[in-house]
Amino acid sequence: MPDRRPWDPTGKVAVVTGASSGIGEATARRLARLGMTVVAAARREDRLATLAAAQPGIVAHVADVTSTADVDGLAARVRAEFGACHALINNAGVPGRDLEGRDDLDEALRTIEINLNGTIRCMAAFADLLEASTPSRVLNVASVAGKLGVGREPYAASKFGLVGLSEAAGFSWAHRGITVSQVNPGFVETEGFPQTHVKRTPARRVIGTPEDVARAIHRTLLDGAAERTVPAWYRAIVVTRHVAAPLFRRGASGFERARRTGP
Ligand SMILES: NC(=O)c1ccc[n+]([C@@H]2O[C@H](COP(=O)([O-])OP(=O)(O)OC[C@H]3O[C@@H](n4cnc5c(N)ncnc54)[C@H](OP(=O)(O)O)[C@@H]3O)[C@@H](O)[C@H]2O)c1
Repeated sequence: MPDRRPWDPTGKVAVVTGASSGIGEATARRLARLGMTVVAAARREDRLATLAAAQPGIVAHVADVTSTADVDGLAARVRAEFGACHALINNAGVPGRDLEGRDDLDEALRTIEINLNGTIRCMAAFADLLEASTPSRVLNVASVAGKLGVGREPYAASKFGLVGLSEAAGFSWAHRGITVSQVNPGFVETEGFPQTHVKRTPARRVIGTPEDVARAIHRTLLDGAAERTVPAWYRAIVVTRHVAAPLFRRGASGFERARRTGP
């Protein structure tokens, strides 16, 4: 069972991947303001340096989650400099593109490589340090697209994988004192996810901000919930998918039509 005892972030060490923009950046800032030491990882060094300069408590580290050597290097640095990792936030991710044919294969595999395999790499690299830092947390930023097969196919596949990974590890890592959770955002406007197609649909009214998700990540760190959906009411659609599949398919088909029309 997940560890639901209160968890005080003050003075603890967090690693946030994909911290150079969007949800990861907002999360790094929020956790640092709580008094955590935050190791902010991503590929864009300039963005990380600006973030670290603006917010005390943030340390920049350049790493590509598709590189095992980079991820191992990140874990080695955290162990050497801080001696602990109390929270690993696996957030790095890309939207990829539609899978329509052979020309899209490389991009589809790259999407899986970053979104799913990147998280597996980080969990593997940090497992021992997390176990030595208990009670510790792993928070995987999946997506509502990991619960509902809508939108870009490789993206949904990567996030379904991440949901399965998080759920299974949530049970199996609990006995090591590591709570594994998934945070599943809906539409959030960020650099990588500008929500261009959503803005053409009535769903534009529910587009959230990176800070909304950072707040949910903060809450999940504190309460160790196995799963959190942002905003919470999206869970109703997830339930509909399972108990009233034809109704869900009608709605999803309408969304797909809207996604493919317009400029
Ligand atoms: N925005 C949404 O609507 C939404 C909804 C549900 C879930 N999510 C998930 O939220 C997470 C964050 O996305 P976001 O919306 O905040 O987008 P974003 O602003 O584009 O941020 C993506 C982050 O991932 C990093 N990244 C990409 N490839 C990487 C790699 N190979 N190695 C290391 N870092 C890498 C990027 O940094 P560098 O380019 O500097 O490496 C960037 O910091 C993603 O996992 C995404 O799937 C987003």
